[in-house]
Amino acid sequence: MKADELREMFLGFFESKGHTRISGASLIPENDPTVLFTTAGMHPLVPYLLGEPHPSGTRLCDVQKCIRTGDIEEVGDASHLTFFEMLGNWSLGDYFKEEAIAWSYEFLTSKSYLGFDPDRLSVTVFEGEEGIPLDQQSIDIWKKIGVPDSRIHPCPRSDNWWGPAGQTGPCGPDTEMFIDTDPGGPAASGAPGDSPARFFEIWNDVFMQYNKTAQGDHEPLEKSNVDTGMGVERTIAMLQGKRSVFDTELFTPVVETIADSCGKSMDESDEIARAFRVVADHVRSAVFILGDDKSVTPSNLGQGYVLRRLIRRSVRFAKNLGLPVGFSKAIARTVIENYRHVYPELERNSARIVSELAGEEEKFEATLSRGMGELEKVIARMKEHNQTVVPGRLVFRLYDTCGFPLEFTEEICREQDLEIDREGYDKAFDKHREVSKKGAEKSFKGGLADHSEATTRLHTATHLLHKGLQMVLGDHAQQRGSNITPDRLRFDFSHPQKMTDDEKRQVEEIVNRAIQDSLAVSMEVMTLEDARKLGAMALFDAKYDEQIKVYRMGDFSTEVCGGPHVENTKELGAFRIVKEEASSAGVRRIRAVLE
Ligand code: ALA
Repeated sequence: MKADELREMFLGFFESKGHTRISGASLIPENDPTVLFTTAGMHPLVPYLLGEPHPSGTRLCDVQKCIRTGDIEEVGDASHLTFFEMLGNWSLGDYFKEEAIAWSYEFLTSKSYLGFDPDRLSVTVFEGEEGIPLDQQSIDIWKKIGVPDSRIHPCPRSDNWWGPAGQTGPCGPDTEMFIDTDPGGPAASGAPGDSPARFFEIWNDVFMQYNKTAQGDHEPLEKSNVDTGMGVERTIAMLQGKRSVFDTELFTPVVETIADSCGKSMDESDEIARAFRVVADHVRSAVFILGDDKSVTPSNLGQGYVLRRLIRRSVRFAKNLGLPVGFSKAIARTVIENYRHVYPELERNSARIVSELAGEEEKFEATLSRGMGELEKVIARMKEHNQTVVPGRLVFRLYDTCGFPLEFTEEICREQDLEIDREGYDKAFDKHREVSKKGAEKSFKGGLADHSEATTRLHTATHLLHKGLQMVLGDHAQQRGSNITPDRLRFDFSHPQKMTDDEKRQVEEIVNRAIQDSLAVSMEVMTLEDARKLGAMALFDAKYDEQIKVYRMGDFSTEVCGGPHVENTKELGAFRIVKEEASSAGVRRIRAVLE
């Protein structure tokens, strides 16, 4: 079975169980400052997991693009990826453990669906801890279905508890499903997660029963939810009898492109295989980030930094393969070709993908050769003096003057059995930051779980701003991103040049007039097609004609949005633009407050 068939089969299976298919969200979270990227299918659904009604009902399913860089150093083995596709089914206060587990089992083992031999399946469940009991219910359901005791493993919070990527929000115990790649092999000891090379984790059913509060308490949710995630890459590897995700059709064209460019083969050695996989994974992730309609480009902050790090890390491993400068272009084209039928945005944005990748690669080539030379000198000196800990200020200097990222220095030093004085590095970094006032990543409050008054008011102000920008600058001034904390809104929109002071003043006036006009805010659920006919502002990047929410503010603005919003614009106070600056090529960024 190929990935194309798996996606369709999954969605069709859950449709047959009463679920509605919804479009996956962008990789760049909307209105959410707590995470840099969409890390799981549940992430864009947080408001609905907290009880807000979803326009498509209480049973949903989708395919979601995800980026996770927490395990970036594990990439290179058979299963870790920084970009992956997640298949998900949701119950929003509808069914719970009984149905979720039964349907997972049916989809995995039924001959009409994936048809895995039930003897290859092992599962884990939450073992409990103080205040939260063992998930006996899930154990009983698995047993009733026919999974023997010996293949049901209770595990601690680190394995079987799902919390939101941010600090607060819906969470609960989960049950994970693993496929044994060596079913006839020796009896495994311990939980499947202890032998990751043998047991591939492919699916996770999360039972969201609690809301984690800012104080760290777990309050029971009024209605329990189910959030599941099945990894497309890992599942097809198992279905195709492959030992690695890189041996499936999602990667083989990329691996071939790399092999053609460097004249090496992936099976030459473990080290070469790792470099192939890192380059393939990182360039693929960079292509998906750059290919998103919300534009993110390499930078030293936030999402741009993650992107930069992926590209730079791929350059470093490309060197181990002897890939020529400019290698990423051919790989990017292969990735786009391989995925454009599923993710048409990659084709739409292909020129930007290729040029940004190539530009960053070239920039880094220069940096790298300079930084490597410096680092080699440092390492030689350390060895000469039998020292094992590289002083933090040297690591910082490599970063500051040679642009050599901390993670690289760390990895290279580790390969040489050297440690890094991280504290010293942090100190030097903080000192530098004070001096230069260049911020590192901030830890924001807020997020999709934040329905505070301050945040809600800024959501509404964002609609007024969007409309005001189009009135002053023209229809081309379309939303490219939005990020709201309780203190301010940040809005990215397409516009080729800096706004003049006069334009900014006009926009402020328009927004403040809309506030003074006390416009009633109303919401209506309709199909995307009807919203389009109504002239509602939206990205219209959804794949299906699904039910969506349209918010109106008097006759002033009509826009597709998940909310929340205030009831009347008079609640907003005075609107002020604090800053207008470039965000990336052709995209401007406004920060604004309500006073
Ligand atoms: N949210 C769960 C996960 O990502 C399904 O594993």
